[in-house]
Amino acid sequence: MKYASAQAQGRPKRPRLRVEYCKPMKKIEAIIKPFKLDEVKDALNQVGLKGITVLEAKGFGRQKGHTELYRGAEYVVDFLPKVKIELVVEDELVEKAVEAIRGAAYTGRIGDGKIFVSQIEEAIRIRTGERGDAAV
Ligand SMILES: Nc1ncnc2c1ncn2[C@@H]1O[C@H](COP(=O)(O)OP(=O)(O)OP(=O)(O)O)[C@@H](O)[C@H]1O
Ligand SMILES: [Mg+2]
Repeated sequence: MKYASAQAQGRPKRPRLRVEYCKPMKKIEAIIKPFKLDEVKDALNQVGLKGITVLEAKGFGRQKGHTELYRGAEYVVDFLPKVKIELVVEDELVEKAVEAIRGAAYTGRIGDGKIFVSQIEEAIRIRTGERGDAAV
């Protein structure tokens, strides 16, 4: 048996839900030694990097900027020059990108840096208005 349409039954037509599928994205922020930037960029290029932001930074980790811990230095904190890179990628690329950064930024000495990964809610390409993973 055929169902009567919403209009025929006098009900208002229910608007169609338009669900636009967008692949989940993550932001990778990495703080690295400045002289490692080129190597990290090349390694990321190999895994299909689409865009990247680079910032000059300064900071310290658990040694508080000292190359070794020594008594009496607890109150002295030194900022060391670092480079911060930021890139937004599809979820599927995160592990490859993290490994690329680790591999290229590693020296094995203190201060090699850190990688932080976080969720991205939305991305918009200004020129075209594209959104989501299409915009990265
Ligand atoms: N928890 C943090 N939050 C934000 N930035 C951080 C944090 N830890 C480190 N950084 C940044 O990363 C840079 C490098 O940190 P670093 O590699 O010295 O970390 P660490 O924890 O001291 O590890 P390591 O013992 O290998 O030196 C710092 O100079 C700072 O800019
Ligand atoms: Mg450190």
